[in-house]
Amino acid sequence: MCGIIGYTGDKQSASIILSSLYNLEYRGYDSCGIAVKDLDISVLKDVGKVDEVNTKLNFLSLEGHTGVGHTRWCTHGKVTKENAHPLLSNNHKIAVVHNGIIENYLLLKKRLQKEGFTFYSETDTEVIPNLIEYYARSKSFIDAVQLAVGDLCGQYAILIMSTQYDGLIACRKESPLVLGVGHNEYYVASDIPAFAQYTNNVVYLNDGDILYITNKSYSIYNNNIKQQHPVTTISREIEETGKGDFEHYFIKEVMEQIDAIKRLIFIDQSIISEVAKEIIKAKGTYMVACGTASYACMYGLYLFSKIAHIHVNFCIASEFDNFKHFLTQDSLVIAISQSGETADTLMAIRSAKEKGAKVISITNVEGSTLTRESDYTILQKAGQEICVISTKAYTSQLAILIMIAYEIVGNYKEAVEILKDLIKYLYYLTSESMREYIKLLADKLKDKEHIYLIGRSFQYPTALEAALKIKEVSYIHAEAYAGGELKHGSIAMIEDGSPCIVFVSNETESSIISNAIELKARGAWIIGVGQRNNEVFDYFIKVRELPWLNSICQIIPMQLLAYQLAILRGCDPDKPRNLAKSVTVL
Ligand code: M6R
Repeated sequence: MCGIIGYTGDKQSASIILSSLYNLEYRGYDSCGIAVKDLDISVLKDVGKVDEVNTKLNFLSLEGHTGVGHTRWCTHGKVTKENAHPLLSNNHKIAVVHNGIIENYLLLKKRLQKEGFTFYSETDTEVIPNLIEYYARSKSFIDAVQLAVGDLCGQYAILIMSTQYDGLIACRKESPLVLGVGHNEYYVASDIPAFAQYTNNVVYLNDGDILYITNKSYSIYNNNIKQQHPVTTISREIEETGKGDFEHYFIKEVMEQIDAIKRLIFIDQSIISEVAKEIIKAKGTYMVACGTASYACMYGLYLFSKIAHIHVNFCIASEFDNFKHFLTQDSLVIAISQSGETADTLMAIRSAKEKGAKVISITNVEGSTLTRESDYTILQKAGQEICVISTKAYTSQLAILIMIAYEIVGNYKEAVEILKDLIKYLYYLTSESMREYIKLLADKLKDKEHIYLIGRSFQYPTALEAALKIKEVSYIHAEAYAGGELKHGSIAMIEDGSPCIVFVSNETESSIISNAIELKARGAWIIGVGQRNNEVFDYFIKVRELPWLNSICQIIPMQLLAYQLAILRGCDPDKPRNLAKSVTVL
């Protein structure tokens, strides 16, 4: 879940690595660092976001044409300067940055300690430069790297820089790593956006690959066999353009939902058709995803059941392994992931593939690991989502599911028409007046410790997603329930003044209003979200009824609410504590 970047070429490496670190920061931002090689290796690193650390240490003071950088989301070891990467070998001749987890690091550490090595951090990573140093005492540097990598168990994307090697070495196992090929220069990073401003020629590395960049060329080996991976030119169709006039990516991306859905209207129908055919043909379809994307899957269950009359199963990706024995060659797995790099989701599709099942992915990142391991991919084209909180990616996933469901019943054109209607309405939902009204509500909620949310049918996943938005960005405890479940226990939590958000649709109106009345009777104050006001509501967010699309419409005021709560509580809406955008560890 960290971001790593390496550069070697004609230019000063520090400025390139620094700009790449800004682009990688969404993967983790508790600390960061850069190491640059000149005659020796110099390292600057500390706790804090890239901007804070750069202001303090001035990364640009590092001189040299080869360097590596890291932005961290800690797994092993607290957030300290010592645990920040790059990490050096005892002889200071090798610097390593790493994304992933070395599972057998304690064993390796003990072995190295017996050989006289000292460890200065609590990280698992520190064993890597020291293992290489150890082997390099009696072997060539390249052999030492290969032996060290052979000792590692776990998942990793590693960049190695050494005064004993002219260039960079990179290794990959189950963590993303991409090579960027420039003119007389190379970039190696966790993902393409890290270096997309410098080159759009990329080479995707596979598990087990070791990449050697030296003398202005590169070679890739896997199990000592030379690999010939193609150089792919990625499209620059929808480039990230910074925050523009917005204060945060969060709100910018909420506003971009209109464009994201507009782009879907022009998506190639044939890919939706292929996917629809696979769903019809499959003997058992399973949807897998994590976090927000998992709520998109839940929405999909209702949609496929109600529009297409097809039963689809859903499992959060991290639990999917428990059910894989149901899979056969005739099964279909649909994985949804904004990043296409979520480790749990990748793990789930890999077990599906082992059983011979087909995999369809819905993702926003072209060239991501998920796209490369799927039989079919629907690219969301929502534009790069920088904010750690998922907003536009979520609603575009819902829109794609609608297109698939309609295509299954031969009504694709109707899906396009209802999405066109939706777009018109999205202008209102993101309007100044809506944002001002939500601000008022946020002010009433900002000091609450708990917020409860209920919905039925399609509004149940909406309630879950809204609760997640509130929690992850404002740190207020928010809990969502299916309306019917409340009286089976959770209603015990409700007391005088408990704020409850109630999502209403025409379909669920009478039953969910009954639930709201039950809450009110226990002292709750109710915020209703839906088409019609009701006397049970203390506050009301009017959202027009758009059949099948209520989930897209109703989540937008909730995204705005979460954003306002974060602002009023002094939280960073783009980089909430403890989170990272791509969760690339299991
Ligand atoms: O990239 P993915 O869609 O696979 O990510 C899945 C979750 O990690 C992600 O949705 C997470 O829950 C976000 N922080 C939600 O805002």
